[in-house]
Amino acid sequence: MGAGVIGLGRYTPEKIVTNFDLEKIMDTSDEWIRSRSGIEERRIAGKDMDTSHLAYEAAIKALENANISAEEIDLILVATVTPDQPFPSVACMLQEKLGAKKAAAMDLSAACAGFMYGMVTAKQFIESGAYKYVLIVGVEKLSKITNWEDRNTAVLFGDGAGAVIMGEVSKGRGVLSFELGADGSGGKYLYQDEYIMMNGREVFKFAVRQMGESSINVLEKAGLSKEDVDFLIPHQANIRIMEAARQRLELPEEKMSKTVHKYGNTSAASIPISMVEELEAGKIKDDDLIVMVGFGGGLTWGAIALRW
Ligand code: ACO
Repeated sequence: MGAGVIGLGRYTPEKIVTNFDLEKIMDTSDEWIRSRSGIEERRIAGKDMDTSHLAYEAAIKALENANISAEEIDLILVATVTPDQPFPSVACMLQEKLGAKKAAAMDLSAACAGFMYGMVTAKQFIESGAYKYVLIVGVEKLSKITNWEDRNTAVLFGDGAGAVIMGEVSKGRGVLSFELGADGSGGKYLYQDEYIMMNGREVFKFAVRQMGESSINVLEKAGLSKEDVDFLIPHQANIRIMEAARQRLELPEEKMSKTVHKYGNTSAASIPISMVEELEAGKIKDDDLIVMVGFGGGLTWGAIALRW
């Protein structure tokens, strides 16, 4: 028996903020942002919509897609660094909103690698037989911790949510292998003071190295090679970082998910949002081997090889 994705959903706020909109409020340009990051626009949630609301919108779609009811969920894991408040957790707020009465609930803080950490955690509970259905939500309202006067960071981030239901799948499918890691000594490169603080160049160097290495490591752990990969879903932080991972796997462009131009960096939400979009676009097919890989503040990283 394996643990895999049995339903998924996403939610991105309606309000679009383009690079041209940012040009009007800070000393930047569409050309700079586009060439350095690949980002063209991002979604920003209104004041009336906090993280738990974004999470709820994605979660109800995932439940519908999995064709299960909220009462059947055993565990809710919410990967976020922008909770509504320190406690109660977003997971508990979501449990109440969904009416997932029997579910245990907790938030998980691993920044942009949070969704990878969440899926790997869910896998343990499912494969041990402890739980049947786990809801994992990657969600961020980064706009509330963005300093809109700091052009170094403000142009990079966006808001959004992606959710998956994980459950039992047949042997040889679902999560085949994973790698999780952390290096607390790099915490100084990316953290929240009041706002997001970042040493972009150091994070860039780390990310380029880690994304490639972790992708290769999960393939090796699963006894697979680069040639077996059908599709790559990298954390959508910066097209140049994503491209480095793609080249390491020697994949053609059409075999890598790219949503960063539309949503910017949505941290823990970026991988599940991309997963939903690529599935809808027909780029992920039954039996495909998918590599997902992310990195983030902590520093943290995580990768998964998954047979769809
Ligand atoms: N518009 C115009 N100029 C800018 C802007 C902007 N928005 N932002 C910075 N600059 C300027 C800087 O002031 C600097 O000028 P200086 O050299 O005179 O001091 C210069 O541009 C820096 O330019 P580059 O060195 O060419 O920038 P670089 O190629 O390093 O790209 C970037 C910067 C995009 C931030 C890159 O380093 C990067 O993507 N790093 C990784 C960031 C990342 O992925 N963060 C997410 C982590 S995930 C999480 O946990 C939230």
